[in-house]
Amino acid sequence: MLRWLTAGESHGDLIVGVLEGLPSGLPLTEDDLNGYLLRRQGGVGRGTRMKIERDRATIVGGVWKGKTSGAPLAVTIPNRSRIPQERQPHRGVPRPGHADMVGMLKHGFDDASPVTERSSARETAARVALGAAAHAFLRALGIGVWGHTVALGGVRAQTPPATRDTDWDLLLAARDDSPLYCADAGAEARMLERIEAARAEETTLGGVVEVVALGVPPGLGSYAQWDRRIEASLGRALLSIPSVKGVAIGDAVEAADAPGREAQDEMFWDEGVVRRTNRAGGVEGGVTNGEPVVARAIFKPIATQRKPLRSVDLSTGEETESRYVRSDVVIIPAGSVVAEAMVALVLAEAMRETFGGDRLEDARAAFDRHLQRIPWRQPELPDRLRRPPAPPAASEGEPAEET
Ligand SMILES: Cc1cc2nc3c(=O)[nH]c(=O)nc-3n(C[C@H](O)[C@H](O)[C@H](O)COP(=O)(O)O)c2cc1C
Repeated sequence: MLRWLTAGESHGDLIVGVLEGLPSGLPLTEDDLNGYLLRRQGGVGRGTRMKIERDRATIVGGVWKGKTSGAPLAVTIPNRSRIPQERQPHRGVPRPGHADMVGMLKHGFDDASPVTERSSARETAARVALGAAAHAFLRALGIGVWGHTVALGGVRAQTPPATRDTDWDLLLAARDDSPLYCADAGAEARMLERIEAARAEETTLGGVVEVVALGVPPGLGSYAQWDRRIEASLGRALLSIPSVKGVAIGDAVEAADAPGREAQDEMFWDEGVVRRTNRAGGVEGGVTNGEPVVARAIFKPIATQRKPLRSVDLSTGEETESRYVRSDVVIIPAGSVVAEAMVALVLAEAMRETFGGDRLEDARAAFDRHLQRIPWRQPELPDRLRRPPAPPAASEGEPAEET
């Protein structure tokens, strides 16, 4: 079993991630993690410091001479902006749309700071670092996971449906060239206009990211019990990302309005079962079916507004305005990297559960045996998914501040 946890506060010394259950023998370096951390900090719409100060992970456990040892992987990411607890402002007025009020009521605080410090999406940096290790494990088994922006501020990208015939090289190159991680250049231009308008109007935007996993074999997950359905695990993981409020597997939203025949994927034979469509997003009956796994995460616009929202001072009951804390306009590109990480962790967990193995070579051998027994050929991974994204250059500054 694979399990993972994070800890740490936004303005504490550092944040921590622990991932247990990777097999031994998987090559893993800090650079394998740092390229993903860099991508999480990128993308238009985020604060200016994000662009100049880079997160860097330190591996403090679970790797022995460059390879996983079978011990828990432990990762730390220092915070650039550290504020001792005694110097943190007293925040008696909760910000609407954040965990402030519920945290204060739940844990008996008259101050939202301890809540804000932990509920901040700064924590997602640790998820991305752990997700990078899951990506490395999946890559070793021929599986690649990547995300892109498919809607932002009401502008929808037009990208080809994710089927086995899709030109992934083209899509990935377009995504990698885009400051919004959007593979449709026309839509991207309109999204950028929306962001500028939102900045001028002092508001924020939401959107949708799509995560696609290539090379996933048939057989991950189970129809036999509710909590073993793979889409249930994907949904839970994606919904756990701050500000994600909905998840769709494949074309779920479009299929709801379509006649039934147009919402299925008929089967054909080409040295194995193949589909020409992938409306199901690679999942049937709670189990992966060998087509690309496709999950979309729907993000609400981020809560913090420059023009303050109305709120209440919980100690007096007085109606007032919530305080502005540094905030982004839109976090969809960063959100796509977090969503990639969560999908990679879920699929890595499913691969561990299905194929086991204490050593990478044993996991590989069990997987190969499965592939020999079923009428399915694993597609070749596109070039860009065969290695992790490039880490930041040594000169690219210190770790980032983030609220
Ligand atoms: C990568 C990332 C960065 C975020 N940055 C901000 C931000 O700068 N300002 C903000 O108000 N919310 C931001 N959020 C969303 C909040 O963390 C989230 O809305 C809040 O914790 C409440 O949780 P909920 O929206 O899931 O209910 C961010 C989310 C993610 C995934």
